[in-house]
Amino acid sequence: MNPVSDLVLVQNDGPIRIVRMNRPQKKNALTLAMYAALVEALNSAGEATQVRCVVFAGAPGAFCAGNDLQDFLDASSNADGLAPALIAFLHALARAEKPLVAAVSGLAVGIGTTMLLHCDYVVAANDARFSTPFVHLGLVPEAGSSLLGPRRMGHAHAFALLAMGRPLDAAGALASGLVNSVVAPDQVEPEAMKAAREIAALPAEALTATRRLLRGSPDEAIRRIDEECAEFKRRLASPEAKAAFEAFLSRRKS
Ligand code: COA
Repeated sequence: MNPVSDLVLVQNDGPIRIVRMNRPQKKNALTLAMYAALVEALNSAGEATQVRCVVFAGAPGAFCAGNDLQDFLDASSNADGLAPALIAFLHALARAEKPLVAAVSGLAVGIGTTMLLHCDYVVAANDARFSTPFVHLGLVPEAGSSLLGPRRMGHAHAFALLAMGRPLDAAGALASGLVNSVVAPDQVEPEAMKAAREIAALPAEALTATRRLLRGSPDEAIRRIDEECAEFKRRLASPEAKAAFEAFLSRRKS
């Protein structure tokens, strides 16, 4: 395996594609190369007739710590805004043709939480902790979460999570409708695979049509993603955001 694919492991188990974020030493913070690998894994799953369901997984204790903050800091300095690889991942999530399941253990920060709003079924470990500190970082929510969050959880829950940055534990995530079930950490992947197998065994055409009806047109989510990205770009260049990234990245040195 090359270094890029080591960071995102893709494996098919019968009709189920397992996509594992694999940078545990950095709590699965996502780099640009990882986004590119995730896009490839999702798009090729869409084209592969034998793949009927995709399962996102992370490492024990770290589903995903969000975007790599060094990458955000670099983007804030060169004023480019969000990288094309990240935007491509957000679009691929919105346009994903196969049902998406997630197995969340431990931390789910930033996009580690907002990507779940694109998932059709989410299993959380009882140690899962969901947080989206966008505003605390001087940023705005992304990944279409400003549209999908209130739709999934209601405005009040979405505001507390996405605007106030209040974390949710597994019980809170279950109560607010972000996740479908909560299990012991060693059961999170078996439970997600069980759901994925159940989904994969459904009549394919009826399921595809039902999923499309439930989710609506992806164009709406794509439009919102692009709107959020435009605001995110302005926020990335702000002194508030730059100071927040530098504070996190220099905390060990101080
Ligand atoms: N970007 C870059 N590096 C990150 C990271 C991120 N988003 N999240 C974690 N890391 C790195 C840490 O810098 C540390 O690296 P080091 O060992 O070289 O110093 C390593 O991953 C382990 O993280 P650490 O902070 O020691 O683990 P923890 O269990 O104490 O805390 C978090 C985990 C996720 C709560 C904490 O790392 C954090 O707050 N990360 C930032 C999350 C974030 O703001 N993401 C963006 C949201 S938009």
